[in-house]
Amino acid sequence: MERKIRVSDLLKMKAGVKVEVKGWVRTKRGNKEIAFIAVNDGSCVASIQIVVDKTAIPEDVLAKVTTGACIRVEGELVESVGSGQAVEVRASAIEVLGTCDPVRYPLQKKDTSMEYLRTVAHMRPRTNTFGAVLRLRSQMAYAIHEYFHSRGFVYLNTPLITASDAEGAGQMFQVTTLDLGNVPRDKKGGPDYSKDFFGRQTSLTVSGQLEGELGATALGAIYTFGPTFRAENSNTPRHLAEFWMIEPEMAFYDITDNMDLAEDFIKSLVRYALEHCMEDIQFLNDRYDDGLVERLRGVVDTEFVRLPYGEGIKILEEAVAAGRKFEYPVAWGVDLQSEHERFLVEEHFRKPVILTDYPKDIKAFYMKQNDDGKTVRAMDVLFPKIGEIIGGSEREADLDKLEKRIDELHMSRRGLEWYLDTRRFGSCPHSGFGLGFERLLLFVTGMANIRDVIPFPRTPKNAEF
Ligand code: 4AD
Ligand code: MG
Repeated sequence: MERKIRVSDLLKMKAGVKVEVKGWVRTKRGNKEIAFIAVNDGSCVASIQIVVDKTAIPEDVLAKVTTGACIRVEGELVESVGSGQAVEVRASAIEVLGTCDPVRYPLQKKDTSMEYLRTVAHMRPRTNTFGAVLRLRSQMAYAIHEYFHSRGFVYLNTPLITASDAEGAGQMFQVTTLDLGNVPRDKKGGPDYSKDFFGRQTSLTVSGQLEGELGATALGAIYTFGPTFRAENSNTPRHLAEFWMIEPEMAFYDITDNMDLAEDFIKSLVRYALEHCMEDIQFLNDRYDDGLVERLRGVVDTEFVRLPYGEGIKILEEAVAAGRKFEYPVAWGVDLQSEHERFLVEEHFRKPVILTDYPKDIKAFYMKQNDDGKTVRAMDVLFPKIGEIIGGSEREADLDKLEKRIDELHMSRRGLEWYLDTRRFGSCPHSGFGLGFERLLLFVTGMANIRDVIPFPRTPKNAEF
């Protein structure tokens, strides 16, 4: 008897062996003499069909085999006479490991909308859709590690609890053990953080980049891959309060090297998905988004457009002059909204765009300043259906310029002395970027809402499970 075989492997085996199958019942149908049970074990979209001769299995056992129940089946793998599968299992014994009340089971055939499934996010991994999404998520994580390891990057773990606001955007979740009902006060009447756990004000990280730069300027090339937290009150299909980010950081890379890496990285990941996860992708393509496979292939085969921000603004202004309506106004200096990004990518160029040289006032303090005094060597990678998928830059390597910028922005230098040391002691040109893992997954799965590509989404007013 072949035990511990997962359904994905069973379906590829030749008939004629005795096997054991364990999994959850998706459907049961049949007639007086015979029952067909579809069992799924999460290893692939497909279920294995169990054929039951009702005289061979006790009636009371079969009665407990309902949708959602967990069962163990012994039987013989035989060639299937029905269409749809090459093999099926002719059951000789069935054990019900866990019954499932068919009335109370939260996953009913009639209600499978994404909105409903979010309310039962603890059970949704049992659906075909979330099985496919979560397997893809896992495969993509593996592909990311493999991409960097094969190129000699060091995986660096940066802290989740930090005293620095890397992006300077003030969207941090505070971490404290102070009694919120009775906060100790300092002389000015504010919270006395010297009494707090770390003896100072701390938060959850919004980015591991600054610590990543410490790594890159010692190890040459590093990447981080971990959770990131932003208390931005954006209730959009593309924002999470807790998301995962991949941040490579490389010494001796200028902005062009950085763009080359970003483009190659993302193409490699999409290619990996097409080569290793086609069954899940095809399922999602057929079920939700029949342009998915084509879009994925398109990205792999296309050279991304590289365009300065100023040129992008011109294109948008021309579109407005020609009658194109946007919700938000466009002019040099504004931060692009996703409607603007998507216009450039989906309507104007019809391929991914890397926008560079943004106005310094809408970008973070650490970006390398251009000679024009107005722009910085930033790069955002914009994708169809997503908008911004990657944000990065060459970093300001010049100590004086960096200090001046910090002062201009009225940021405290004191908390950043450790960071400035990289520029004081053996400064070097370096660059990096951040890829939002869930934004990548939106693209690869074709899902429309970022809440549906992470197992347990955290968004404003929602931290269930
Ligand atoms: O553009 P961002 O804010 O850049 C940084 O944090 C830099 N420190 C990265 C770097 O240069 N090392 O964020 C990077 C990416 C975005 O392009 C987006 O894909 C994703 O992170 N992202 C979010 N994803 C989901 N929910 C949110 N709230 C996100 N905010 C950013
Ligand atoms: Mg950004």
